[in-house]
Parts: sequence; structure tokens; C-alpha cells
Amino acid sequence: MMTLAYESKGKGIPLLLIHAFPLSSEMWRQERRVLGAAWRVITPDLPGLGISPCQIKPSIPKMAFELNNFLDGLDIQEPVVLAGLSMGGYVALEFIKQFPKRVRALGLFSTRAEADSPEAREKRLKIVQNIQQEGLEPFAAATVPRLIGKTSQAANPHLIKDITALILKNKSDGVTGALLAMAGRNDSTDVLANIKCPTLIVAGREDEIIPFAVAEILQKKIPGAELHILSKAGHLVNLEQPEEFQTILKDFLKANL
Ligand code: MLT
Repeated sequence: MMTLAYESKGKGIPLLLIHAFPLSSEMWRQERRVLGAAWRVITPDLPGLGISPCQIKPSIPKMAFELNNFLDGLDIQEPVVLAGLSMGGYVALEFIKQFPKRVRALGLFSTRAEADSPEAREKRLKIVQNIQQEGLEPFAAATVPRLIGKTSQAANPHLIKDITALILKNKSDGVTGALLAMAGRNDSTDVLANIKCPTLIVAGREDEIIPFAVAEILQKKIPGAELHILSKAGHLVNLEQPEEFQTILKDFLKANL
């Protein structure tokens, strides 16, 4: 068991927001401020990222297990709203598989249920080697433009700088650990039809990492799921279109809690 670092804001129904790779809980800064007025917004750093310690054997199922301990540590007994973006979504699906009773509503943003293909796994292992040899800077420079849609890149060039800075705050071994965890993750497709709680899916039409068509498939597989495709966002929907994203999330929470 490990102690996860986190930030939290507000009171009321707990809303656990799980960040993407290779970022940290800092990516939810605006959501903490805006949604923290009505809900208890809790944003942990996943193992190895932000300032949380690394896992000895990196694994997504163990990350879900650590989040379960994390909720116990905060003495949260009531079911939470659990939402994750991309890698955060991989962890959220693993969590709902292991601890379905702890989730009252689910958010899946820019994410997918499938495990890595053999080619994707190979690519991740190559990136691990590169980071071990060259550090995080070349990796961040190659990754950030793919995380942000073309509209945001043109309209909001500071995002590239901000997200690069956020990535470079991480430790190399935490980033490589997260890559290994994602490469070894389970396929969660079989969980989808059994999801019983209200589910919100958000994706960006300009996402180059997980195409928005994947979100349309997710919606078909999760009973009653609500889907929003943001026309002017890439992968990092909440950072690229914060107001639109927050309105969708607030409306979903108001309608379903
Ligand atoms: C993420 O945003 O968490 C990553 O792009 C997910 C991945 O690499 O599969």
C-alpha cells in the first residue's frame, strides 16, 4: 500500500478526477476551482506521476487497488463519482471492475476500453528505452503536439508550453513505470455492458491519440451512456475547451446526482 499525493477542493458528494499520462493532478486545476463550489473534487496523482511514489511493479489494476485504499484513507464510505481522462479512464474502468459498489457515476474522457495492440506495446517499450537514455525532454517535445488538437495549437499556443512544463515536473522513472503499466493493461471491454451507473463520455473530434470514433463505440457498449464530442478539441478536452467541458460535466452531475 502507498500514500498517494492529492489536491482537493469543496464539500459534498466526492468527485474523483483521474489524470492522463504523462501529466498529474495539476491538469484538473480549473475543475477543482469551478466544480469545487458544489462538489468535493479530489484529484490524486497516480503512482509515479506528480509527487506520488512509484510502483515497484507498475500495473493499472494495482493503481485501481491503490485508489481504493486512498478512498479508505480519506474515510470516504459513500459511492463516488469517478472520472478519468485517457490513462485515467483505463484506471477508472479497472476500478469499476474491481469495486463497482464504490462508483455512483462514471466519466470516461478521451479514453478506450481495449488493451494495447502488440504494435502499440512495442512502441511503448521503445519509448521507455529512449527516456532511459535521453531523459524526458525529447519525449515531451514529441508528445505534446499530439496531445493537443490543431484548433488549440493555433488559438492557444501557450498550452504547448504549459503542458510541456507539467510533463517535465514528473520523474523519468515514474513516466517509464506508467508506460509499462499501460503496455501491460487488461482489456476492459467485457466490463462495459455491466456498467449500471450513469456514464458520461467526452471526446475531442481532433484527437490524434484516441480517435473520437472509439468514444462512439464506448457509448454503444455502455447502457444509457451520454456522449459529447467536442468539435474544437484534441486529446486533452478539459484543458483545450475548459468552459464547454465544465458545462457538460456540471450538467451531467446535476442531472444524475
Ligand atoms: C494519456 O493521455 O493518458 C495517454 O495518451 C494514454 C495512452 O498513451 O494510451
